[in-house]
Formats: sequence, structure tokens, C-alpha cells
Amino acid sequence: MQTFVIANQKGGVGKTTTVLNLGASLARKGKKVLVVDLDPQANLSSGLGFTKQFDKQSWNETEEAPYKSIYDVLINQTPLSKVFVMTNQKNLMLIPSHLSLAGAEIEMVNMLARETLLKKALSEFKEDVDYVLIDCPPSLGLLTINALTASDKLIIPIQCEYFALEGLGQLLETTKLIRGINPDLQIGGVILTMFDSRTRLSSNVVEDVREYFKEKAFKTVVPRNVRLSEAPSYGQSIFEYDESSTGAHAYEQLATEFIKRF
Ligand SMILES: Nc1ncnc2c1ncn2[C@@H]1O[C@H](COP(=O)(O)OP(=O)(O)OP(=O)(O)O)[C@@H](O)[C@H]1O
Ligand SMILES: [Mg+2]
Repeated sequence: MQTFVIANQKGGVGKTTTVLNLGASLARKGKKVLVVDLDPQANLSSGLGFTKQFDKQSWNETEEAPYKSIYDVLINQTPLSKVFVMTNQKNLMLIPSHLSLAGAEIEMVNMLARETLLKKALSEFKEDVDYVLIDCPPSLGLLTINALTASDKLIIPIQCEYFALEGLGQLLETTKLIRGINPDLQIGGVILTMFDSRTRLSSNVVEDVREYFKEKAFKTVVPRNVRLSEAPSYGQSIFEYDESSTGAHAYEQLATEFIKRF
């Protein structure tokens, strides 16, 4: 079992889209994949069709959540084996998130070993899994720190946009600090996302990233493709939603590259 954290504290760069569709593609290639939703927004959980059975609006903070989630794993030490769900795709398992996770960082502050809660939970998870992919919220708070501490490799999605590289220094600095608790953490790769072939800017970002990260940058570049942004609202991966789209093709290629690398 190899564990990957997909992180970039910049919002909207394609973290969730990548965890969902790279995870689905790896699963289609026969790998056993566990995706972990570590974002209180729970976009990954809804993008995989999990939360549609629950009415989000009716939940308020004084009630217990209608299902077990990563919140229970971190705060109540519920084992992952009691929380994971099978998705409607073969080989693809999910640890769902819930809005209650929004308060978890504050609840965790006074907990013992608060940086290693997820690491401990994963080390006790005995299901047969090849890859764990962890989707992070857009911050470098305790949730992301838990993911970095629990992982072997950091994967950074970078949007082919202006200011794409801004803030990366901070992420790399945090990664260095985490090595104090998790000395094995490596940069596994960088994924360029939302590439727009019509703009010179996109190509410039690709050049800059390749120059800086060298062979760490995946050869596959994910294009901007509206089908990728539509699929989650149907609770589907891009392969269920539109297998012939450029987005599906890119995530299929990325998975092939990923398996070769890891
Ligand atoms: N390659 C793409 N082409 C078109 N739209 C995309 C692509 N990748 C992601 N999107 C869309 O861009 C938005 C941001 O993507 P996503 O949610 O994956 O980013 P994120 O990094 O997880 O965001 P957050 O930081 O808020 O968690 C979403 O609406 C998503 O559907
Ligand atoms: Mg996200």
C-alpha cells in the first residue's frame, strides 16, 4: 500500500478532480484504490455520488452526522474499516467527508499526537489496497498536515494559470518541516491541470514548471475540458460520464504514467 497526498493550498487547482478521476482510472486498470476525502466541503464524496442519499441542508451542528466519516476517524478514533464505503466503481473505495470536519481542526488542537491521527488510522487499515489517494482542503492547516504526515509521496496539481507557482514555496517549506515527523515523505510528482491550448500563458506555465520540477512533472497535461467540470454534479467519474472526452483520455494516460512511476 502506497499513500499519496494530493495537496496545494491554492484553491480550485484540480485537487479533487484529480483524486476522483485518477483514482477511478487506476481502479479501472485493476488497482485497488482508496480515496480519502479530507476536505469539509466534501466535494470528492459528492463527486463520487456518495452524499446524494443524504440531505445536506437539514444537518445542523448540534446533531450527529447521518453517516460515519473521516471526522469520526480523526476525532473519535473510529477505525477506517468501519468508515469506508464501496463506490459504484469496482476497486474504488471511499472514506467520505462531512461538513462536521470543518470544526475538526479546532477540536484537534489539544489532542495528543494530533499530527499523526490519520497516519495511525491508515497503519491499522488491513484491507487489500494498492494506492491511497488523499484529497486535501485548500490550506496548510492540521488536516493537510495529517495527510502529509500519513503519506509516502506528495503530488502537487498546478493549474496552468497566472500566479500558478505562487505559494508553492510555502508548500515545499511545509513539506520540509513535516520530514521532522515523517522523514520518508518525497515529492512524487507535479500534475499540470486545466491547460488551455489557445493561450500562450498555459504553455508558459508548463515550461516554467518543467524547468523547476524537471522529471517530477508528469508528461501528461490535463486539458481544460468542460466535461470534467460537469461529471461531479452527476456523481460520476469522467469515465462514466463521457469516456470519449479529452478529460477522460488525459486521466487515463495519467494513470498509465502513475503506475509506471509507482
Ligand atoms: N481540467 C479541467 N477542466 C475544466 N474544469 C476543471 C478541470 N479540473 C477541474 N475543473 C473544475 O474547476 C473547479 C476546481 O476544481 P477542483 O474542485 O478539482 O479543485 P480543488 O483544487 O479541489 O479545489 P478546492 O481547493 O476548492 O478543493 C471545479 O469546478 C472543477 O470541476
Ligand atoms: Mg477540492
